[in-house]
Amino acid sequence: MKILATGMSGPIGSAVLPELISAGHSVTRMVRRPAASADELAWDPLQAIPPEQVSGYDAVIHLAGETIVGRWTAAKKKRIRDSRVLGTQHLCQALARAPQKPRCLIAASATGYYGDRGAEALDETSAPGNNFLAGVCREWEAATTPLRDAAVRVVNLRFGVVLSPRGGALPKMLPAFRMGVGGRVGSGAQYWSWVSIADITGAVLHALHREELRGPVNAVAPTPVTNLEFTRVLGSVLRRPTLLPMPAFAVRAAFGQMGDELLLASARVLPSKLQSSGYEFRDPELGGALENLLRK
Ligand SMILES: NC(=O)c1ccc[n+]([C@@H]2O[C@H](COP(=O)([O-])OP(=O)(O)OC[C@H]3O[C@@H](n4cnc5c(N)ncnc54)[C@H](OP(=O)(O)O)[C@@H]3O)[C@@H](O)[C@H]2O)c1
Repeated sequence: MKILATGMSGPIGSAVLPELISAGHSVTRMVRRPAASADELAWDPLQAIPPEQVSGYDAVIHLAGETIVGRWTAAKKKRIRDSRVLGTQHLCQALARAPQKPRCLIAASATGYYGDRGAEALDETSAPGNNFLAGVCREWEAATTPLRDAAVRVVNLRFGVVLSPRGGALPKMLPAFRMGVGGRVGSGAQYWSWVSIADITGAVLHALHREELRGPVNAVAPTPVTNLEFTRVLGSVLRRPTLLPMPAFAVRAAFGQMGDELLLASARVLPSKLQSSGYEFRDPELGGALENLLRK
């Protein structure tokens, strides 16, 4: 396929890109700087895109967005929201008006959609949450409507906590855990819906090819765990003690609202649509996933 892709320089994109290429697809990357080669296309997510620039691709993979890591000042929250909502609107409006539209769009979203939900089992039919990230995810997914209305198949992949050696949660936790000073976060009762980077690339490729998949699709492992269980398993894979908890007040003091919504919030999300469409997980269990990531 001829694929157009955004956000390919991040931890997820840089794992997805080589798999697309080794599967024989040709990929044009949209980049937020002048294009440096024939397989790059410059764009500014905050500006409208001429439809003819994005015409003639079979599929589009859209991952771009301001990193959510960092202090959530008012300006940072605006960048988190606008980079996703406006970037997606501009891309989808251009694709919907393109002389030759793609057959599908695979767009990133996040399990942040569900907000803070305790131990409730959540699937794609569950209602959204009501915190900042949930609001961003709702608007981010809604921004794909112009393309859906143009009869293009759209999959909104709600990524969970992606475990990758290249970025995201794991490399930030590892130094403390390796030194033996890791521990649960807050009460540890909150669910973390994790997914290995191998299954993220697997889910993106699966979504590209499965015509029956459309709308929101949870990209999480089938075995979400509490933070306490995550801590225990990570300690046992690293063979280190995990006795030093980080109390909720310390999380809030260190990370502010980001700590509340990313580290202390609970979402027990299940991959119902991936499983019913026949996706087979490469890393269905946390212990095996961490072994694969950390012991290679
Ligand atoms: N990693 C996770 O655990 C996780 C979990 C849930 C959802 N997600 C979502 O999945 C997507 C990819 O994740 P990732 O971890 O690979 O993300 P990331 O590194 O935070 O960002 C992905 C890419 O977005 C582009 N980008 C950065 N700032 C931007 C801005 N202000 N405006 C527009 N684009 C910008 C960059 O690509 P270029 O420089 O090439 O443009 C960057 O490499 C993101 O939208 C993220 O929110 C990730």
